[in-house]
Amino acid sequence: MNQPITTFSFPTTTLFGAGSIAELTARLRQMNVNRPLVVTDPGVVKTEAFNLLKQALGEKTQGHAWYLYSGVHPNPVENDVVEGAAAYRDGRCDGVIAFGGGSALDVGKAIRLLIKRPDLQLDKFNYQDDWSNLAPCVCIPTTAGTGSEVGRSSVITLPATKRKAVLFHPALLAKLVILDAELTRGLPPRLTAATGIDALTHCIESFTCPVFHPMCDGIALEGIHLTVDALPHAYHDGNDLDARGKMLMAAAMGAVAFQKDLGTTHSLAHPLSTLCGLHHGTANALCLPFVMELNAERKPGLYRRVGLACDLDVVKATDAEADLVTINFIRQFIIDLGLHLGLRAYGVSETLLEALTEQAFQDPCHRTNPVPVTAADLRALYLAAL
Ligand SMILES: NC(=O)c1ccc[n+]([C@@H]2O[C@H](COP(=O)([O-])OP(=O)(O)OC[C@H]3O[C@@H](n4cnc5c(N)ncnc54)[C@H](O)[C@@H]3O)[C@@H](O)[C@H]2O)c1
Ligand SMILES: [Zn+2]
Repeated sequence: MNQPITTFSFPTTTLFGAGSIAELTARLRQMNVNRPLVVTDPGVVKTEAFNLLKQALGEKTQGHAWYLYSGVHPNPVENDVVEGAAAYRDGRCDGVIAFGGGSALDVGKAIRLLIKRPDLQLDKFNYQDDWSNLAPCVCIPTTAGTGSEVGRSSVITLPATKRKAVLFHPALLAKLVILDAELTRGLPPRLTAATGIDALTHCIESFTCPVFHPMCDGIALEGIHLTVDALPHAYHDGNDLDARGKMLMAAAMGAVAFQKDLGTTHSLAHPLSTLCGLHHGTANALCLPFVMELNAERKPGLYRRVGLACDLDVVKATDAEADLVTINFIRQFIIDLGLHLGLRAYGVSETLLEALTEQAFQDPCHRTNPVPVTAADLRALYLAAL
C-alpha cells in the first residue's frame, strides 16, 4: 500500500466533570499564570456560566488580577483578535482563558499569535514561522459543538478576503481544557441543537473522509453514538447534566476526529456564515442530509457504519438500503431538534447562489469529501437545501 506520511497526536490535558471549573485557579497557579485575560463574547457575559467563571476566579476586588475582553463577534473577525491582543498587553497578562462558544475559543487561541508578533496581519499568517512558546491558554467551552477547545485551528473571517480563514498550527492547542456540564446547562434549546449537530457533522464527515486514520475513525463513531443518545435529552431538558456532559465529550471527540479532515458540508456552511450570517452549526444542519444523499449516490454503502453507530438495523441491508435508512434517520433527527430544513427561512435566496458557490468551491474542506465534487455539484446542493 502506498501510504502517505502523516503525523497525529491527541495531546490536550482535559478536566471533565460537572463543577470542574472550581479547579481553575489551582490549575492556573500550576501553569504560572497569575494575570489571565478572559476572552469571551457579550452574550456569554450575561450567562450563569460566566457567573460560575467569576466565582471560580474570585472577585477582582479581592486582589485577584484577571482581565476581560468580551468583544468577540459570532463568526469572529480579525479585529476581535487585534482588540483581544491589545487588552492582553494593556493588562500585562500572562495567559489566556478562552471562555464561550467556538467563536470566543477561536479568538482566545488566536490572540496569542498577535501577542508574539504584534505586527502580524492574519492573512499573512505563515505556518513555517516560529510559533513556539505562545502564551498559555485554557479553553473552557460553554457550547457543545465546535470542539475548538481541543483543536489546532482558529476560524477567523479576514477583511482582506471576506472569507473564513482556518489558521492552523499545533502551537494553537490549549494547554488545558475544562469540560464542565454546569456551563452548558443554560444554553438555550435552539443553540443546544445547532451546536450539537455541528459535533455530529464533524464526526460523520471525518469518519467518511477517505484518509487512513483508524484512531480518528473509532473516536468519530463513538462521538456519533454519544450524540444520537445524548443530544435529544440535552435539547429537551437543559438541566440533564449527564446528557450535557456527554455532549461536551462528543464535541471534543468530533474535533479530535477531524484532525483527519472534513467534507463538503463544511464547505457549504462556511460561506453561509460569511455571506448570510448563519450560525455555523445551523448551516451544517441545513446542508448535511443533502450532502449525504449526493455522497451515497456516488459511493453506495458509505453510511452503513454511521447507521450502526446510530443503533440502526442495517447489518444485512443492501448498500443502498443502509444509506437510505441512515440518511432518513439523520434528517429526522435534525428535524426533531427543531431545525427545520430550508435555507430560505434564514434569508438565503437564489440571487446568492453564485457567490455562495464560488466561496464554497474555494473552501478546502470538500477536497477530502468521500467523492470529488465540482462547483456545479455545490450549486446543486445549495439549490436542494434552499
Ligand atoms: N476551531 C475549530 O476547530 C472550529 C470548529 C468548528 C467551528 N468553529 C467556529 O466556531 C464558531 C461557532 O461556535 P459556536 O457554535 O459555539 O457558537 P458561538 O461561539 O458563535 O456562540 C453562539 C451564541 O451562543 C451564545 N452562548 C455561548 N454559550 C452560551 C451559554 N452557555 N448560554 C447561553 N448562550 C451562550 C453566545 O453568546 C453566542 O451568541 C464559528 O465561528 C465556527 O467557524 C471552529
Ligand atoms: Zn463545524
